[in-house]
Amino acid sequence: MLKNKNILIGVTASIAAYKSAFLVRLLVKAGANVKVIMTKASTEFITPLTLSTLSKNPVLIEFSNTKNGEWNSHVDLGLWADVFVIAPATANTIAKMANGICDNLLLATYLSARCPVFLAPAMDLDMYKHKSTIENLKRLRSYGNKNIDPGTGELASGLHGEGRMAEPEEIILFLEKEFSKTAPYNGKKVLVTAGPTYESIDPVRYIGNHSSGKMGFAIADELASQGAEVTLVCGPNNLKTNNNKIVRIDITTADELFSASIKAFKNADLAILSAAVADFKPAKSASQKIKKSSGTKAIDLIPTKDTLAELGRLKTKKQLLVGFALETENEIGNAKEKIKKKNLDLIILNSLNDKGAGFKADTNKITIIDRNNKITKFELKSKEEVAKDILKSVLNFKSK
Ligand code: CTP
Repeated sequence: MLKNKNILIGVTASIAAYKSAFLVRLLVKAGANVKVIMTKASTEFITPLTLSTLSKNPVLIEFSNTKNGEWNSHVDLGLWADVFVIAPATANTIAKMANGICDNLLLATYLSARCPVFLAPAMDLDMYKHKSTIENLKRLRSYGNKNIDPGTGELASGLHGEGRMAEPEEIILFLEKEFSKTAPYNGKKVLVTAGPTYESIDPVRYIGNHSSGKMGFAIADELASQGAEVTLVCGPNNLKTNNNKIVRIDITTADELFSASIKAFKNADLAILSAAVADFKPAKSASQKIKKSSGTKAIDLIPTKDTLAELGRLKTKKQLLVGFALETENEIGNAKEKIKKKNLDLIILNSLNDKGAGFKADTNKITIIDRNNKITKFELKSKEEVAKDILKSVLNFKSK
């Protein structure tokens, strides 16, 4: 959810500023782009060097850099950010924000930011309960800012009560929740198939293909980061999923892929079938290794179950079905034929004639055809970018 998001962190002068280091670290680990603005006073609690090292960006404190005369544009920072998180937010900064005071870079950025602003207050319990703080926070909420509530516990003063800044992990959860609200696939259940299938000849050998699963995994990752709950049915591969919105079901054969997919499709809003499924399997899989001396020269093959075709039959009006086609000749014609034959909404066409497309590569070049015969051609791109194009096309098709 936080991958590639531009997150601006504001640090003000509270002892809780040490937690900002952990927050920045977790955000960077989650794939976010992080920039930090500090108030001058906060640099007494944590050094800018710590936060610039962790965020991989220079920390900004002043309106301009006196050494080279460069302006630190609060307007640009506000426009860059997808969210502005002020953590810790002291009573003083909260009071200034509530009154439109902008006597430092952090406050000027707050006033010019167009993105959502979240505050993680940190102060002693009596300051937090003071009527002026309560009123200031209320006013800031009425402006659309959101509070990341502080916890209760021992405070730096030694007193016990409410006012401890929320833990970095809690702030991360808060942000994920907020981003998921506006994510295009929020709450959608999606089935994705990926990778090859292996059809066993005997305990040692199988019929397989060169699919790496990279395209399907990129689609699953992108769907999850756009809010979807993904069931990823995948054949043998070396890839990892690291998003808790992806439920991974490992299968080996085409028939196993069929069973797992039919089950997942029942609750799905959308299915994207990128797996390179074997069309045929050995009629019989030998229980013992076939020896050279046995003289077997031919293997009888029978068709596997076609998952995509079956989902096309089962599909309701509310469900969308996207297939893949890997062609070597008459690409558009064959792909259009597959849309009709398998009752698809969209088909993603790869041509093995295109350099950098297809199996194993980190890139792909696709053409998307919809059931109304609209054809969109895309440039050669990374599989992550291709996944984004596919998901955008699905949304566009759905909205028509
Ligand atoms: N597919 C499937 N189950 C199968 C075979 C294919 O779900 N048993 C899916 C693939 O995941 C892909 C699409 O069907 O989305 C590919 O269509 P298909 O007609 O099988 O393509 P080819 O296998 O290339 O068929 P042909 O050899 O006729 O071109």
